[in-house]
Parts: sequence; C-alpha cells; structure tokens
Amino acid sequence: MNTHRLKIPLLLACSSILFIAARLNREDKPKGLKDYYKKYFAIGVAVRPSDLKNNQESSLILNEFNSITPENAMKMGPIHPSESRYFWRDADEIVDFGVKNKIKVRGHTLCWHAQTPSWIFTDSSGNQVKKDVLLRRLKSHIQTVVSRYKGKIYAWDVVNEAIADDTTFLRKSKWFEITGEDFIEKAFEYAHEADPKAVLFYNDYNTEIASKRDKIYRLLKKLRDKGVPVHGVGLQAHWSINSPSREELEKSIEMFSSLGLQVQFTELDISVYSGRQGGQLIQGQRRQMETPVFTAEMEQKQLEKYKMVFEVFRKYRKNVTGVTFWNLSDKYSWLDGRGRKNYPLLFDTNLKPKRAYWEVVKF
Ligand code: XIL
Repeated sequence: MNTHRLKIPLLLACSSILFIAARLNREDKPKGLKDYYKKYFAIGVAVRPSDLKNNQESSLILNEFNSITPENAMKMGPIHPSESRYFWRDADEIVDFGVKNKIKVRGHTLCWHAQTPSWIFTDSSGNQVKKDVLLRRLKSHIQTVVSRYKGKIYAWDVVNEAIADDTTFLRKSKWFEITGEDFIEKAFEYAHEADPKAVLFYNDYNTEIASKRDKIYRLLKKLRDKGVPVHGVGLQAHWSINSPSREELEKSIEMFSSLGLQVQFTELDISVYSGRQGGQLIQGQRRQMETPVFTAEMEQKQLEKYKMVFEVFRKYRKNVTGVTFWNLSDKYSWLDGRGRKNYPLLFDTNLKPKRAYWEVVKF
C-alpha cells in the first residue's frame, strides 16, 4: 500500500481540525488585556480572596489578567497579627489560585508604616523596643513569609512608602524612629536571603511629583551604590483625571530606569475626581459637592488619561515589566471608602469593559 497517498489527506484533516479548534478557542475566550499586551508586559490586578471564589469575578480575572497581587492579605497586620501567630489562609488562597491558573503572583508588602501590628514595636511591658529587637523581628517576619512562598511569588514590594510627603527625606514612621534609615536596606537583604530569585521592589506613590520623585531617586541611588539587592521600583499610579501629565510620567520612568531598575506600575487606578493620590478629599472639603454618578465628562477625561498612560507604558516597554490595577472593577474600589463612590477602573459596576478599556487595547 502507498502510504504517501494516505499521508496528505491525513495531514489536511489534522490541520483543519487544529484550525477549527483554534477558532473555537478564540471564540470561547475573547481576547483580554493580557493578550493585547502579551509582547509588552504583564497585566495584573489586586485581589481579595472573595474575588477568586465568585464565578463572575474569577472568570474576568482569568480572562483579562496574568498577574495578581493580594490587596491586603500579605500585609504585616493581617498576616502576622501577633508575634507567635501567622494567619495564612487568605494569602495561601491567593497564591494557590495563581499557581493553579499559571498566573504570576506579586507579593505586597513586607515593610510598611500602615497596616502594621503594634506588637512589633513594643515589648511585653508596653515599652518601645530597641533597634536590635525590631530588626530581629523584621528579619524573622520577612524570612518566614518570603520562604513560605519561595518559587511561587516572583516579585515582592519589600519596602512601601518610606519617603516623606513633606520637605524632609524619610517618613517619620516607627521604623524610622527606632532604626533610622537601616530598616530599608535590612528589609531588602532579608528578603534576598530568603529567596534569591525574587525580584525586589521599592514601592511608593506620588512618584511623578518632582520633589518626591527626587527623594525616591536619591534613596534608590544610595541603595544601588551600596549594592543593596533592590531590582525594581514600583510606581503605585494612584492617579486622577488631571494628573500626571505625559511629561511627568515619562520623566519618572526615565529617571528610575537610568539606575538600572525595572519599573512596574503596581497599583493603577484613575480617580474621576481631581486631586493627587487617587483624588482623596482635601480635608474639610464638603462631600455633598461631589456628584455620585459617573458623568459623561468624567468618562471622557478618564479615557483620555488611560489612553495617554498606556501609550507611555508601551513606549517604555523595555523598562516597564508590569502594570497592575488596584482592584478589578468599579463595583468595588478602595477609593469608595472615602465617603463617595469612585469609578477608577477599566470595568464598570457590572464588570463590563468601559470605553476607556477600548482605548487601552487600541494600538
Ligand atoms: C489599601 C487597600 O486597597 C485597602 O483595602 C486598605 O484598607 C488600605 O490599603 N497604597 C498601598 C496599598 O500600597 O497597600 C493600599 O491598599 C493603597 C495605597
């Protein structure tokens, strides 16, 4: 029997099956943000364990994103409520979801002034601990958490928001009060020891405001010059419809990249209210003045800002290695907790893509 004769129809049949299967697959799963940006950078989202258990939310996450960050579950307060007790459940669920679905996991965060339990700064009689005790506790915390997820978490926000918003250099946190500047480099060293392959980030907000950016640059340059294992800078990107400008944003990426650091936008949202830091209310401003609806004007301004920032991210694709949204959809945003509803994300309150979404994927 002539086998060549059989081979050709067989090959044709196989390739048609593959073609149909590929089409079906395409139709079953519409392209998501992660697919549009496949050749650029990872696209992530901050999650709560409940997002992963709800079918609608979890399928949106799986379709659109290829990276997740625990919104709160790995912060020191929630994960390490007392010296002898860790609470792993929520963090474990998030990491398991990532591993099971082959989604990257970013760890957030190992050392911060907020959501930090008071036990870490005090001894059994209630007095403030000395530097050596605090650093020993920090080491034990970081090594326990990082080792548990070694090989499963690819990047960590090691130190969060250590730079001051006023004219001084470092934030006057308990960490600073007790250890001076040392907690910063120590935190990076402990994390690196626990998982030498993890990519380690310094993370902060208002990184496009020149005065704060200069201080962050100064800190990172110092750490790099000393050989501290810091590999990237996380720019939180809690922005609003009127900031940052293209120039401010480009300048930040260029400055931080010039230090040999990779850049990630770690907490992106664009508040529909004016003002920095996600448009948080200036103290004393009257809340009734704010309208609780997503107006056509907000929609337009927001989509222009989203379009611009993603143009910049793509332009700097060599330096930008990830963009993570802070929450999934306008149904729930951490910015809502400030007495008014916000609409800062790419999916609306029904989890449908907003007009801004289509601007972000049009290129
Ligand atoms: C926020 C969470 O989204 C809230 O749920 C929580 O109540 C407070 O913290 N910068 C950070 C994040 O680094 O950890 C913060 O997350 C938002 C600002």
